[in-house]
Order: sequence, then C-alpha cells, then structure tokens
Amino acid sequence: MAKLGFTLNGQPLEVDVDPSMPLLWLIRDELAMTGTKFGCGLGLCGACTVHLNGSPIRSCSFPVQAAAGQAITTIEGIASDSALHPVQQAWKELNVAQCGYCQSGQIMSAVALLASQPNPSDAEIDAAMAGNICRCGTYPRIRRAIHRAAS
Ligand code: FES
Repeated sequence: MAKLGFTLNGQPLEVDVDPSMPLLWLIRDELAMTGTKFGCGLGLCGACTVHLNGSPIRSCSFPVQAAAGQAITTIEGIASDSALHPVQQAWKELNVAQCGYCQSGQIMSAVALLASQPNPSDAEIDAAMAGNICRCGTYPRIRRAIHRAAS
C-alpha cells in the first residue's frame, strides 16, 4: 500500500492503495464513481477512458501510481454546476447512445479531441475516436454530435 495524492475532477485527493492497481479500479471500486466503465480491461476498447492532464488515457491499464501529482478528470467532472458540457449536451440532443455502455468513454475522447482541435474534420474525428469501440454502431451519431458540439 502507498499514500498517493492527485487531483480528481478539480479536487485534491489522497488515497492509500496498492500503487500498481489500475486507475479504473480506484475510480470505480474505491471511490464508487461508476460513470467510467470496464469493457475489455486490456486497453483496447476505450470504455474506461478518462483524462490525465486533459489527455485521454485508458484507466484499465494505467497504474494508480502513474497518476500521482497529476490531474485526473472523469465523466463526472466535465459538466459545470449549472450545465452539461457541450459534448454531453450534443450527445443528449442527438440521442447518440443506444445501449450506452461505451458512451462515457466516447464522450471523454470527444472532449479531449475538441480541446485540441476545436473544429475537426470527419477524418480527424474518425482518427481521434478510432480507439473507442461501440458494439451498437453509433459511430454516425457520434460524429454528428462532435460536429454539433464544435459549432
Ligand atoms: Fe479499458 Fe477497454 S476497459 S480499454
């Protein structure tokens, strides 16, 4: 066990955990924040995507100790007190989700994309979102929602 400190959704947090534990385990099992999902556990599907200092990472294959001293953002941390994040709002308006399981990871990747590329092309969207798998095939709606959030 080790004491590790970092920022989670803008709040300082110290935990005492196995430092090699995947960050996803900390988020879901220790902190009971279940918006971030477990899909493959192998870094392949994107369901577990969170941000490390604003960049998307696969939390299922990211050891907690690597987050020490850094800023983690989960799906629970992107809305303001008064409004959904524009990406969440676009997702809602366009009914992007089907089963919904992968969608928090999709949204976190989309938020990171728009932070670095405010008006992405279809090709840029497809490239940035390629690591997020949706078994329901909502990709056309995901693309439209990203364009809507960008506008
Ligand atoms: Fe982490 Fe699939 S659960 S990439």
